Amino acid sequence: MSQEFVNRRSIQWFPGHMAKTLRLIEADLKNVDVVLQLLDARIPQSSLNPELQQLTAGKPRLYVLNKADLADDALTRAWVDYFHREGAGCVAISAKQKGSAAKVRTAIGRELEALLARRAGKGMAGARTRVMVVGIPNVGKSTFINNFAGEARAKAADRPGVTRGKQWVTAEGYDLLDMPGVLWKKFDSLETATNLAFIGSIKDDILDIEELAMGLLAQMQAVCPEKLAGRYKLSAQQLGLAPWELLQEIGRRRGMLVSGGEVNTERAAVMVVDEFRASKWGRITLEAPPQKGKPDEQPIV
Ligand code: G4P
Repeated sequence: MSQEFVNRRSIQWFPGHMAKTLRLIEADLKNVDVVLQLLDARIPQSSLNPELQQLTAGKPRLYVLNKADLADDALTRAWVDYFHREGAGCVAISAKQKGSAAKVRTAIGRELEALLARRAGKGMAGARTRVMVVGIPNVGKSTFINNFAGEARAKAADRPGVTRGKQWVTAEGYDLLDMPGVLWKKFDSLETATNLAFIGSIKDDILDIEELAMGLLAQMQAVCPEKLAGRYKLSAQQLGLAPWELLQEIGRRRGMLVSGGEVNTERAAVMVVDEFRASKWGRITLEAPPQKGKPDEQPIV
């Protein structure tokens, strides 16, 4: 599969402000009761930040699989089971939907059962729970916090790569520490980098959009060819085309032609990536949980 768009040497996906965020997170850990790491339900493994894992190892942690409305239901259930099997708290939500805040409140209560009981024993049952909210850029942190805090807060400029500081947000019974989105310095595999690019966590302007679209098409050919065929009305033969030819075919079908009848592949690429991100192909999860007993599958929590 062509993955040149994530040329390891040339891409600056870890700008200086992210290093600063990691330091802020480390410094603020002592001020919170629990760390809530938002993951993208379509790529739970690739969106789990190993540096955050390390930093927060000594804290109660809860994993929230957000954007579950865009992901495959059965795989989301498999992921939640996987985290539970690993002894980690995990809940799947769609931060845009009502009810997600209640689900997370319940899960936090479960994670902090012992702490809350201790506080009640000391007559501090009403003490506010302090929650640090972390995650990669674009994972839905602002949406989640707005929903959880139950009031319309000004939406911070938070496209991938746009700097934003930490802030405390007050919710009923909780103080949420909203940290800026953060990636990590070194991706352990090219697949992780490509998955993060597919969902829009790495800035598009440092990527080659045609290569990105071809990578996505190749992955779709492998993971869910029927959704690709359904969306673009492709025959079995067209579905088997190499990614570059497939991109051209899709562009042709959508009438994206330039003079001389050639396909405007850049326009086609933008459309393919946008349609995937907008879930136009249906609900898709790009990775399955590690299987027990498979030697090449390392546990991620
Ligand atoms: P961030 O703070 O982690 O960077 O993420 P933010 O909340 O800004 O969300 C990034 C994008 O993801 C937003 O879309 C937001 O609406 C969308 N989003 C967040 N949670 C969910 C979810 O559970 N399901 C779905 N389907 N989408 C979600 P946007 O197009 O960038 O902005 P907007 O036009 O929706 O405001």
